[in-house]
Amino acid sequence: MAISTNLPVACKEFENYLNKLFNISDCDIRTIIKDFHSEMQKGLSGYESSLKMIPAFVDRPKGNEKGKFIALDLGGTNFRVLEVELDGKGNSSVLAVSKFVIKKKDMQGTGDQLFDFIADSIKSFMQENSISCDKQIELAFTFSFPVEQTNIAAGTLIVWTKGFTAKGVVGEDIVIVLNEALKRKGISNVKVAALANDTVGTLVAKSYNVPSCDIGVILGTGSNACYPEKMSNITKWRGVRKKDNMIINMEWGNFDKLPITTYDKEIDKASPNTGRQRLEKLVSGMYLGEILRQVISDLIQRDLIFKDYGTNVFHKPYGLLTEHMSLIEGDNSDNLGEIENFLVENGIANINLHSKVLLKKLCHLVSARSARISATAISAIITWMDPELKKNHTVGIDGSLFEKYPGFKGIMEEVFEELFKDKAKKITLELAKDGSGKGAAIIAAVAASSEK
Ligand code: BGC
Repeated sequence: MAISTNLPVACKEFENYLNKLFNISDCDIRTIIKDFHSEMQKGLSGYESSLKMIPAFVDRPKGNEKGKFIALDLGGTNFRVLEVELDGKGNSSVLAVSKFVIKKKDMQGTGDQLFDFIADSIKSFMQENSISCDKQIELAFTFSFPVEQTNIAAGTLIVWTKGFTAKGVVGEDIVIVLNEALKRKGISNVKVAALANDTVGTLVAKSYNVPSCDIGVILGTGSNACYPEKMSNITKWRGVRKKDNMIINMEWGNFDKLPITTYDKEIDKASPNTGRQRLEKLVSGMYLGEILRQVISDLIQRDLIFKDYGTNVFHKPYGLLTEHMSLIEGDNSDNLGEIENFLVENGIANINLHSKVLLKKLCHLVSARSARISATAISAIITWMDPELKKNHTVGIDGSLFEKYPGFKGIMEEVFEELFKDKAKKITLELAKDGSGKGAAIIAAVAASSEK
């Protein structure tokens, strides 16, 4: 339903300006794809690049992997421990799962503090689910940060992202850090069989039963993607070339050739990882609410919105969440009642219709830019693998932004239509729930069977 309201001229002008500022045009899309390809090339050859293109030491599974595994999933404020069973016929089931909330003091304290918390959580999971402390059990660790893998079960943390800063972990082998914490807590029967990024887990889990899946993407708190690359294209690879393909964790969140606004610059400057994760800061769920908050603060200062509520409204950094934006953009009622309730909860009562409409439009500017950039980056991977789009490509995507944000998937699909016309039909975006748990277990199974 289209709601028409008469906006004041100054406001209308500013809105037009913002429309242009946040628009990712057809021309931008083509430039981004070109730059993406060039950064991919550099990353695969071992040259300095904003795309790290990290070999994941694993290819897509065959679907016959079998066994029971414990999987750990660390990548945001929730840490999960799962018990996963693979039946060898392409089916995986989660037998048990526990979620533990990581406190800010553990995310931003010392590495020992963070990993002690992880080991304690594993211990209580094992106790609750009567998992024996005597029999050896294989563990798969989804660690969703940039890690330079040196093996299927080893890799050093390059840098923290998503607000984590735990000291003394960057440059260390994550599996060793975990093993030391397990030892401190007296857990001696757990063997880390695989270390994986969440994108790799997502791709592996989806392609376990959908063979056409050749891209794994996360659109959640953070953002990233992976795809299988021909070994012959990974020219920086110095190891043995046992297989034809290997999955590459691109770390696309760090791609930095994008049109940036002053709001984005402010967010980057105030973040603990200034100059890094530039794509992530435009696209992922951790930042969208903050971008919107910056825009609203600007409008407040220009006296164009919430006039009677002063500059205190939405003053807290990161106080506006992407979930709030979902709620605002999802309100399709005539009087925008949900938006009204949200504003009242935030101390803004009796607001006129045009402010509510404006708020909804602002959310759309920020979320549509994110969806268009995400689809552009996916298009870059597809055209890299298959320039003429001869094959079908299923993209397995996990993350609440993709799963829950109203209209997000539709905007991504529009980009494919703009770029590929009829051939856009060859691209399917599919939700890949829980890839980071199940996928890691499958990787552990692949690793275990290749060891045998
Ligand atoms: C990390 C990636 C991860 C992504 C999604 C990013 O911040 O650097 O390794 O895959 O978040 O969780």
